[in-house]
Amino acid sequence: MSDDTGAVILGIESSCDETAAAVVAGGTRVLSNVIATQHELHEKYAGVVPEIASRAHLERIMPVIQEALREAGLGLRDLDAIAVGHRPGLIGSLLVGVSAAKALAWSIGKPLIGIDHIHAHLYAGTLDAEPLEFPAVGLVVSGGHTSLYLVRDPLSLTLLGKTIDDAVGEAYDKAAMILQLGYPGGPKVDALAQQGDDKAHDFPIATLKKSRMDFSFSGLKTSLLYAVCGKPVGRGADASLPRDASELSDQQKADFAASFQRAAITAVVRKVRKAFDMHGVSTLLVGGGVSANSRLRADLTELAEKREIDLRLPAMEHCMDNAAMIAGLAGLRHQRGESDDLSLSAAARSLV
Ligand code: KG4
Ligand code: ZN
Repeated sequence: MSDDTGAVILGIESSCDETAAAVVAGGTRVLSNVIATQHELHEKYAGVVPEIASRAHLERIMPVIQEALREAGLGLRDLDAIAVGHRPGLIGSLLVGVSAAKALAWSIGKPLIGIDHIHAHLYAGTLDAEPLEFPAVGLVVSGGHTSLYLVRDPLSLTLLGKTIDDAVGEAYDKAAMILQLGYPGGPKVDALAQQGDDKAHDFPIATLKKSRMDFSFSGLKTSLLYAVCGKPVGRGADASLPRDASELSDQQKADFAASFQRAAITAVVRKVRKAFDMHGVSTLLVGGGVSANSRLRADLTELAEKREIDLRLPAMEHCMDNAAMIAGLAGLRHQRGESDDLSLSAAARSLV
């Protein structure tokens, strides 16, 4: 199978609340990309419940893999390797994908390739795209991470800076909770922000002068909370907030969403600009759920045009957690003759 198309790899992703499988040929050509979200299961808890997530992965993993093979028009025997995102993430969730990948690799006698989810997010803009130049600056913006990297090649990252508190996606999810918009919040805040005045409120944009490349979003979140609900009344366990978002008109909510989005995205883009000031590179790789954000995409596109940066934004279907980015990056490890043995384990933390 691999002769004229490059290695054909099945990727599996189960690090959080998306069960995903995809087939990618030659590291970049996406033959299928199947994602089963669990949002409806976690919505009433306003966040991912690890036990519910692992059980849902168990139920969905085999149908999702079968669907990915069916869409690609391939059988298990056509594959050259099985890849799996094995860190970082929720251990119980990761283990479902890792176990499935090991069993499949063993049963067809093909290599097993473990992939770091953070590396994979930064690889997403490479899928179905032209080759790019390295080194690059890499920006990962998701529910769990907000980090900048110097990317020497897709498998070699040096951390330049990261959030010292909330991830930007987490801040979006909390903003949605404060504004009573539902879960997951990022897309909802983004959509509502389009109808609002982004200068209605002046929320703080953290600059962190001492740690120049780091991010902080907890001050922004607290400012939004107090602006919407008022400052807490009382002390300790008796403290309560005087009002909530149910008292706001639709326009007031939209103005809060737009002003929050301006502050959050401006904070991200300023640090990206700094990274380009400090490192003489001309490529920007972006990945993670928040790379679907309309304002981030527009502001980065503007920056890229001004500075003649080769900006690689992932296609919308490759922004959120997906397995095409796992299978694609595994193509590079496979090309280098790298693989893992059946002792591959899941790990909560990334090594980058
Ligand atoms: O990469 P991802 O699917 O999972 C993690 O690895 O965390 O990212 C999910 C995060 C969530 O916090 C979600 O609210 C956020 O990405 N997100 C967005 C948008 N779409 C998803 N945040 C802002 N604007 C969006 N359009
Ligand atoms: Zn992710």
